[in-house]
Order: sequence, then structure tokens, then C-alpha cells
Amino acid sequence: QLIKEGKVGYKSPSNIALVKYWGKKEGQIPANPSISFTLSACSTTTILSFNKLPKPTKYYSFELLFEGKPKLDFNPKIITFFDRILPYFPFLKEYHYVIETGNSFPHSSGIASSASGMAALALCLLEIERLHLPNLEEKYFMKKASFLARLGSGSACRSLEGPIVEWGLHKDIPESSNLYGVKYSSEVHPIFKNFHDTILLVDKGEKQVSSTAGHDLVNGHPFAERRFEQAHKNLTRLKSVLKEGDLSGFVKIVESEALTLHAIMMTGDPYFILMKPNTLEIINKIWLFREKSGTHVCFTLDAGANVHVLYPENEKEMVNQFIVNELVVYCQNQQYICDRIGLGAKKL
Ligand code: PMV
Repeated sequence: QLIKEGKVGYKSPSNIALVKYWGKKEGQIPANPSISFTLSACSTTTILSFNKLPKPTKYYSFELLFEGKPKLDFNPKIITFFDRILPYFPFLKEYHYVIETGNSFPHSSGIASSASGMAALALCLLEIERLHLPNLEEKYFMKKASFLARLGSGSACRSLEGPIVEWGLHKDIPESSNLYGVKYSSEVHPIFKNFHDTILLVDKGEKQVSSTAGHDLVNGHPFAERRFEQAHKNLTRLKSVLKEGDLSGFVKIVESEALTLHAIMMTGDPYFILMKPNTLEIINKIWLFREKSGTHVCFTLDAGANVHVLYPENEKEMVNQFIVNELVVYCQNQQYICDRIGLGAKKL
């Protein structure tokens, strides 16, 4: 017997990859494994109301409100998502859905909301499944929610749990899977349990290259196979770095991963430069400051111009001063977001 109506809600965080996912196979299967810090401040909150339809719809019945207002341009993404999850989510056509969603970060900040947004929506949908099957095991719940989130946006499957999540088969992570993200369960040194990520908003415009186009570019890329091998190796190295608390090792892997992601974009067909002059200014300043200060501040990048500045809690004072004094001038309208490693999604 299906429940007539109800309302469920989740707040899901964004995440920042340390070893990057770039390139995918049919069915949102990653070409290489990746690992990320779950963030805390940058998040999407979604409330999903559902009402039983007199009979199942032929298509989907939903409306979406973004920050209180109808937002039709999100519909195609939702429809693609629904198409992909239909075989795994039997309730989809039984209900009319109202999706009320909003982000904690400014709308056009250049920060992608697809990871946190798809994770929140997937969790809401799985909550409906749990209402029907109250004995659903927590482990199954998380795996399946992550599985559904992956079908919305690959990196979204890393936005449910925290503080560190791995996605993609890897020989050193026995629980790893290509189908969903798993909470990283190997030993982590305390220094990595309280990390900061200050996001410098260098360019708040529309993404120059959609992530779909970016992933496509990896297919047939002349360096693709070597890149996938490198990601596997970096994950193995990162595992011991995280265990030992090796901050210098961390800096090397994380910065190299960011630059490699961009190098792949620069050497594709077609080719793109996603950094802006200020991205490079910031990177150079970080390198100079790290040398001078003896801190372990480092940067990472997504497929855009914004810079994520990563540093441990015990270097916070020095690094914050440096950011405010030397880096904020390179941000558009001096805007930046102070975030940190977080624990994952919350049910509302
Ligand atoms: O989840 P997608 O398809 O938007 O891909 C995002 C990939 C990167 O953010 C560039 C890297 C990553 O692993 O998150």
C-alpha cells in the first residue's frame, strides 16, 4: 500500500576532490577512482513533497521551486535524472512531486551546485523508499542514495557522507565501487580531520565548459590512459599520506591533481583554458607564501577558475591573514567563502 502524501527534506554538502574524477564511461561509470573532502558551509537544502496520483503518470509529474520561485531551466536536468533512476526507483511515476531547493552559496558564484543538489534530491527520494520499507538498513540506504546521486551527477555520489569519501574501484580500498561513493574508512591522522577550504571566487560567470563536455573530451584523449594510471597511483600514495599525517605529501598530490585536470583540458580536442590570469596570480602567491612561511597551504581547482585554498587548523591564523592581505584582491568583487571539512548530509 503506497503512502498517500508526505514531505521529506535533506541538506547536502558540496565536496572538493583531492584526486579528481575526470572522464567517464557509459552509465556514469568513472574512468578512474577519486577521493574528496566533504565540505560544510556550501550546501543545498531540498524539501520534497509528494502526493499520490490517482493512477501512475505516463511521464513524470513534478514542479521545481528554486529559492521560492519556479525555475524551468532546471527541468531538463531533472528529467534526465528521472529517466536514469526510473529502473531503480519504482515510486517515481506514482507521485506528483514538488521540489523546493536552494543553495547556501550565492547563485552565480561559479560554484557548481550539481553535487550537493543531486545528493540532496537522491536522499529525499530514498527517504520515500524508507517510509515504505521502515526496516531498510542504514548501510543499504546510503549506498542506494549515493548510487542514485551518481546518476544525477557523478561527483554527487561523494556528497552524502563525510569527512572523506572515495568513489571508483581501487585495489587499496576494498569497499570501493564504481556504482556509489563510500565513506573512507582507512586510518586518518588527526591533522586531516580538521581542514579548511577557503574558496576564492575568481570568476563567477557561467562555466565555459560543461562537465559533460569536459568528461567527453577525455574519451580518445592522447594522454587518457596515463592519466587514469596516475589517478590510481595518487590514491595509493594519498592513503599513506592521510595515515601518516604527511602534509608535504598531501600538498604535492593535491596540487598536481588540480594541474593535471587543467592540463587534460588544455591538451584535448577541442582545447580549453579554464584558468583566468587571477587564478595563476593566486597560485604563484600561494607557492611564494608556502616557501616563506613554512606552512602547508595548498590549492586545488575544479573545472573552472575559482581556487580552493586548503590548510590545516593549526595554520589557520597565518593562512587567513595571508588570504585577506594578499589573495582577496584577485577575487571578483573581493568575494570568497570560508568552508571546512564536514560530516555529510543531514535529514531535516
Ligand atoms: O560530477 P561532474 O560530472 O560535474 O564532474 C565534476 C568533476 C570535477 O569536479 C572537476 C572533479 C571531481 O572529482 O569532483
